[in-house]
Amino acid sequence: MKKDLLSVVDPGPTGAGELLEQALVMKQGGLRCLLPWRSVALLFEKPSLRTRVSFDLAVTQLGGHCLYLSPQEVGLGQREPVPDVARVLSRYVDCIVARVFSHDTLVELAHHASVSVINALSDHEHPCQALADFLTIREHKGRLRGVRLAYVGDGNNVARSLALLSGMLGVDFSIASPDGYSLDDVTVREARSLAAAAGSSISLTRDPHEAVKGADVVYTDTWTSMGQEKEAAVRREVFAPFQVNAALMSRADADAVFMHCLPAHHGEEVTSDVLNGASSVVFDQAENRLHVQKAVLAQILIPAD
Ligand code: CP
Ligand code: NVA
Repeated sequence: MKKDLLSVVDPGPTGAGELLEQALVMKQGGLRCLLPWRSVALLFEKPSLRTRVSFDLAVTQLGGHCLYLSPQEVGLGQREPVPDVARVLSRYVDCIVARVFSHDTLVELAHHASVSVINALSDHEHPCQALADFLTIREHKGRLRGVRLAYVGDGNNVARSLALLSGMLGVDFSIASPDGYSLDDVTVREARSLAAAAGSSISLTRDPHEAVKGADVVYTDTWTSMGQEKEAAVRREVFAPFQVNAALMSRADADAVFMHCLPAHHGEEVTSDVLNGASSVVFDQAENRLHVQKAVLAQILIPAD
């Protein structure tokens, strides 16, 4: 049976742990050329720098070949229905890596494709980002279990994947969001049930200072995600008290690191001094997308013995 990665929970806690182990081996130069002659389609409805480049290089370094398909070329669901695109691509490639507006499009693609589908960001989740972020946390903190991760800002796709992965891997996750922009109840319930099994906690607050107090990691993302551009002015006002700046960072642990999935909006969700400061590990996160995605591709495309 084909494997998909639509949500960060799909590999399960053991599978996610193994992915991070394998990503570390790959980062150290091991396990090359695992996917000779395999073809991967990058089907993108939204812009990208990191995801597009890191997936292309991941496939190339594993001995395969990537095809980038832009929104203008494919017209997913407009020029051609999603099920037909899924079935056509399944006749050519071994895997579809898709970045979509609606998570439902991804589910529909996966349902109709006979090849694996990987979520390269939807409005609901960004699993490859969360996995790369946890590899980064492990490298900087030497562990995951018991690490205190504070997320400040929108309860969006990135926050959702981080909360779920925290629950799976025993990280204590706290999130501060304005009223109306919290993580949804279904995600919170799922993350808490995973956290109960892993011995960690998931907490929500409206107060950034409370979330960040004593944290090992302070994380933020854009206030306006792709597809929400019309709400940008309102969001700038609502989220202003949630900016990560030096004053907020000073509430965290003295050795806390600052994280952001990028692209960042300097002076909005984070000040330039924090983003460029000594505690910032944002470019390690960007690099780790490559290593984690190589591990994801190998785990999904190479059948278990
Ligand atoms: N973090 C991330 O996914 O970046 P891109 O949108 O540039 O791919
Ligand atoms: N939340 C952001 C993440 C970008 C990588 C967005 O969806 O636009």
